[in-house]
Amino acid sequence: MGHHEEDPHPAGYTPMVAPEQAELIRRWHERAYQAARAEAAAEQTFTYLGTTLVVPPQVQPITGMSHLLGEAVLAEVRAGDRVLDMGTGSGVNAILAASTAKQVLAVDINPVAVEAARGNAERNGVADRVEVRLSDVFADVDGRFDLIVFDPPFRWFAPRDLLEAATTDENYRAMTSFFRQAREHLTPAGRMLIFFGSSGDLAYLRHLMDEQGFDVEVVARQELTRDGRSVGYYTFRLT
Ligand SMILES: C[S@@+](CC[C@H](N)C(=O)[O-])C[C@H]1O[C@@H](n2cnc3c(N)ncnc32)[C@H](O)[C@@H]1O
Repeated sequence: MGHHEEDPHPAGYTPMVAPEQAELIRRWHERAYQAARAEAAAEQTFTYLGTTLVVPPQVQPITGMSHLLGEAVLAEVRAGDRVLDMGTGSGVNAILAASTAKQVLAVDINPVAVEAARGNAERNGVADRVEVRLSDVFADVDGRFDLIVFDPPFRWFAPRDLLEAATTDENYRAMTSFFRQAREHLTPAGRMLIFFGSSGDLAYLRHLMDEQGFDVEVVARQELTRDGRSVGYYTFRLT
């Protein structure tokens, strides 16, 4: 095996969390993935913040933490905004944004999510304002946006299937390239809403936000205790 194949961090990512924390996160991830697979055996329907969302098995469902981002989207979006929902999943945040925004582009790398988001935009009467497209991060995204929303996969392990790829992004390839290209897709006064938790490598997210020179404020947060440890979920507003 050549040196390249032995490199444990091919994307240049080295965990910034301590090894014990990384191990704990790996265990939490496995448990959450097994639970998600069991729950996602069939299509699920959610009634959430005034929307009705049908979510197939291979797409990220609405969770107990979704509202931390969803309510922030409703509070942030303005009538004239052109909005990008990166990693749209069920289309949830694109649909919430479309309650106010002029135009929304929703993208995902998961073709099942793209179909689901289109169906949900239709179901919620906003299909005229929401375009859904398959894209690997910004690869098929053009133009600039007043507001970009992203709830990235929190973990950095290799995913085994599409559903797992909603919660883990190997070596944070997608999240890293997202932050390194975000500025060129924002208008001068553009804002971003990013959702993340300490069940991911929060220090690495902070590093990416700092590296790109964003001003960051926390607009929503919730703490819970898991295995005797505190886990925090945060909606960050970046300008
Ligand atoms: C945590 S889920 C969030 C889904 C949805 N926004 C929500 O809030 O329920 C992350 C989403 O990012 C998508 N994703 C992962 N890697 C991506 C990439 N390289 N490009 C675009 N989307 C990606 C996943 O398919 C998934 O739908």
